[in-house]
Amino acid sequence: MAKVTRKPLISGNWKMHHNHFEAISTVQKLAYILTKDDYEAVDVSVHPPFTDLRSVQTVLEADEIPVALGAQHCHWEDKGAFTGEVSPAFLAKLNVTYVIVGHSERRELFGETDEMVNVKAKAILKLGMTPIICCGETLEEREAGSTDEKVAGQVRAGLAGITPEQIGGLVIAYEPIWAIGTGRTASAEDAQAVCSLVRATVSEVAGRDAAESVRIQYGGSVKGSNAVELMAQPDIDGALVGGASLVAEDFAAIVQYHAAG
Ligand code: 13P
Repeated sequence: MAKVTRKPLISGNWKMHHNHFEAISTVQKLAYILTKDDYEAVDVSVHPPFTDLRSVQTVLEADEIPVALGAQHCHWEDKGAFTGEVSPAFLAKLNVTYVIVGHSERRELFGETDEMVNVKAKAILKLGMTPIICCGETLEEREAGSTDEKVAGQVRAGLAGITPEQIGGLVIAYEPIWAIGTGRTASAEDAQAVCSLVRATVSEVAGRDAAESVRIQYGGSVKGSNAVELMAQPDIDGALVGGASLVAEDFAAIVQYHAAG
């Protein structure tokens, strides 16, 4: 199956949690728990707040910890008069590998549009980093039966004008908004259905090869106790984890899904 060719990616999105001291300690604890087998089976990234990035980078590099550094957001321009914004070029300088774009919290609370998500994804790719493009429906949209339309629309808009080769290398995170931080997880079946739709949408815009190699994460109340079932789904190639990624032991339990059973 194509699934074996896609190495899972488990990402910890710390959101606005952990100052740089707490971030260092969390990463050190995580590195203490994870083993060579884990890193062989799974790619792991952590996405601390901006103020922690340099500290976490230093720890990862000094201790040769094979956890990728990630960011939660960035601007689309490399520099300019954008008070308070963060340049993707500065992230690249910190050896950031993955940048989350279009998280539902950014879209809902800070007005990010599909167009902004698209230009940011292009800026991130241009600098040799990998965007994790987020999509997902609200509870109202799910109940109205418009999940597929919303998600496919976000995916199409997010990928507009990006080459099929680049699309094949990026990550899309399906995060149903009603499942974020609520303790309510989509059933493995529902999550698989939408992730399969995401892959079909990628196939439609960028062709079969890109669809086979793009990695699709599920996010929304992922925990050690539900990771095995979610990760067993053919179109789920990873997890974007919020709350459970803040505690090293809890995050490690998700990364170690591969060894369960
Ligand atoms: P939770 O895992 O806390 O539900 O958060 C999911 C998320 O938004 C990750 O980006």
